[in-house]
Amino acid sequence: GLPEYIKIVEVGPRDGLQNEKVIVPTDIKIELINRLSKTGLPAIEVTSFVSSKWVPQMADHKEVMRGIERHPGVQYPVLTPNLQGFHSAIAAGATEVSVFGAASESFSKMNINCSIEESIEKFEEIAKSARNMDIPVRGYVSCALGCPYEGNIIPAKVAEVSKRLYSMGCYEISLGDTIGVGTPGSMKRMLEAVMKEIPLSALAVHCHDTYGQALANILTAIQMGVAVVDSSVAGLGGCPYAKGATGNVATEDVIYMLNGLGINTGVDLYTVMETGNFICTALNKKTNSKVAQASFNT
Ligand code: HMG
Ligand code: MG
Repeated sequence: GLPEYIKIVEVGPRDGLQNEKVIVPTDIKIELINRLSKTGLPAIEVTSFVSSKWVPQMADHKEVMRGIERHPGVQYPVLTPNLQGFHSAIAAGATEVSVFGAASESFSKMNINCSIEESIEKFEEIAKSARNMDIPVRGYVSCALGCPYEGNIIPAKVAEVSKRLYSMGCYEISLGDTIGVGTPGSMKRMLEAVMKEIPLSALAVHCHDTYGQALANILTAIQMGVAVVDSSVAGLGGCPYAKGATGNVATEDVIYMLNGLGINTGVDLYTVMETGNFICTALNKKTNSKVAQASFNT
């Protein structure tokens, strides 16, 4: 049957904002995270300790990390591509990090300027330091259902990279449909391959909604037993190194679906919708959440 509880990992402040062309003021980012902290969300990805030349929007990572109010029981992971990023993250007070690999060589090169093999070496250095400091590490595998440069990605490759991240100590592997091309069919085939290598309890799905398949893909994953879902308030998001990729699935829409299935998330839908309103007003854009559109336009 379906999981009774699903953990939502909110990635809006990071994945959602990283692709915004205009630099969002640091105090808006901090207020977004502080508001999200009051919704019942168990995990909120705060920022990325990456190069500001590569992703200018995340240049204020230290200020954001230091500026937020941290609620007990809420995890605040940050992205770290290498040891340099890991050390800056820890210095800024991070208590959880995420490494981000890919199942596509071309995407790895474009996104983090190294091969998959080289990235694994960098992530192993992070994992080793993190273990000594009792810092949990989450691992992403991008292009799990397709690559903007290579097209189709074989499930065996996703399983292989996932296994390497899990073996080095990542407590959870988030399978990213970076460009939102997956369908329930390809999601099922990919998960079947990954589930042979990694316990189900260590898997998460991270769906972008470019082709409008995200909720269907998430439903497929949770029917297969996946109990962790990444999403972004107001459906903000995209990846600067995946042209044309739109936002993550909206947190509001995921919670609405899970509420309808009787699955507990601990998250208050209305408070998330108000937070979505706040950030959309600040960015002067329309929400991508269908649920928020329907609720506020009646
Ligand atoms: P590089 O140029 O190969 O790095 O970039 P390098 O080691 O050769 O160093 C070059 C310069 O970068 C040096 O500075 C370093 O200090 C600096 P300089 O001497 O020239 O002044 N540098 C750094 N600065 C800050 N933080 C660091 C860092 N490391 C080196 N950690 C690097 C390699 C990984 C840094 C670069 O490629 C980068 O920052 N990439 C950004 C990747 C990114 O943030 N992508 C978006 C997130 S991934 C995503 O969205 C997908 C996901 O959502 C899942 C999904 O949807 O599938 C997670
Ligand atoms: Mg993403």
